Amino acid sequence: MSEQSVSRRRFIQGASAAALALGTPRRILGANDKISLGFIGTGGRGRRLATVVTHVPDFQVVSVCDLVEDRMDQTLEICEQYKPTPKKYLDFREMLEKEKLDACIVATEEANHAKCAIPVMEVGVHCFCEKPIDITVEKIDQVTRIARSIKTIYQIGFQRHYVPAFQQCIQHIHDGKLGKVTFLQGMWQWEGGVGGRYLDMDLSGCWFLAQACHHADTMAWVMQQPPLQCEAMGALTEPPANPPEHCAEDHSAVTFRFPGDVIFSYTHLMNCCKKFTGEKLWVYCEKGGVDLPEAMVYPRSGMGEPQQLTERAADWDAGTSTEIEGFARHIKNGEKPLADLETARIGTLMGIMGGMAMYDRPNRKWDSRIVKWEDLGSTT
Ligand SMILES: NC(=O)c1ccc[n+]([C@@H]2O[C@H](COP(=O)([O-])OP(=O)(O)OC[C@H]3O[C@@H](n4cnc5c(N)ncnc54)[C@H](O)[C@@H]3O)[C@@H](O)[C@H]2O)c1
Repeated sequence: MSEQSVSRRRFIQGASAAALALGTPRRILGANDKISLGFIGTGGRGRRLATVVTHVPDFQVVSVCDLVEDRMDQTLEICEQYKPTPKKYLDFREMLEKEKLDACIVATEEANHAKCAIPVMEVGVHCFCEKPIDITVEKIDQVTRIARSIKTIYQIGFQRHYVPAFQQCIQHIHDGKLGKVTFLQGMWQWEGGVGGRYLDMDLSGCWFLAQACHHADTMAWVMQQPPLQCEAMGALTEPPANPPEHCAEDHSAVTFRFPGDVIFSYTHLMNCCKKFTGEKLWVYCEKGGVDLPEAMVYPRSGMGEPQQLTERAADWDAGTSTEIEGFARHIKNGEKPLADLETARIGTLMGIMGGMAMYDRPNRKWDSRIVKWEDLGSTT
């Protein structure tokens, strides 16, 4: 075994041991106790989550942390209802040390999730971390080992798990009402382009991983197992003026094969005309099809009438309020989050597979290849 893998192993074992010792809640909360909450990362999503938090009476925001002062100030404006005024920190480790937090929301960039979420979990603080888990297999394995061993909550920001349309449709499929799943199809298409840091694969992974991981996670939830392999093509059709070294795609077509010859075909396109935009996730089964966001079941001819299972999902952000309410409830009741680690791990690794299959990183070019699940080398 190489020196590098021995030291990596020691790190992971060390980190897991620390988690076992430390990953118990700092205090048991009663029904009327406020959950002392801190934020790490107060960019666009962090502030959106802060707005949602202010409507959940169980939370008391006590501190915020970001590398940029101005973003913390904007978050404090959102959190003006809390007295005393939440404290600001530039260093999240200092915040974890000085504040008696029960819970923390991590909304840093994709590549900075594990770096923040692991120390949060290690000190016995409940963790809500935005998706995906992180952008490398090694860091996903580190988070997975720790999250599996702690007694606190590790919830991931895959909000579709909190949307009735997805919950009821997937339950309908799992109950076997339509027979076996035969094919999966999806698309997510937008008028706008990929912007800002999402273009930088070193921060976001790739656009498919950073954003379409929501849909990979949803199909992993449907299938309840990882895919066997992935093939993909990606392209950057509208390059920015100053592209980063590894610039993310704005168009991709990604295909997975799951056990049982179930194929998942997916397109993720930016810069589209309005007519071609939107989010579609269709599950084909032996006896009919299910449109997940629309909450519709369409039996095959002669096998029944179309059925609306519940209200359709409002938009891509549906579920954000209920996931944050859920986070408070899970903390208080000790329940397992609906957006669970195991499905998120498969969804995140599918995001990585897509990136590996469409982009030749050493040669910095769009080139496709088959990536098998075992090629990821995940040790969890
Ligand atoms: N669930 C969803 O629907 C949804 C929607 C949008 C974004 N997101 C996710 O939310 C996350 C954040 O996205 P964003 O658009 O807000 O990004 P952003 O770049 O606007 O904000 C990230 C913030 O994290 C801060 N940060 C980075 N490292 C830090 C550290 N060590 N300590 C403290 N702060 C640190 C940055 O300074 C920045 O302000 C991403 O993972 C993204 O994928 C999820």
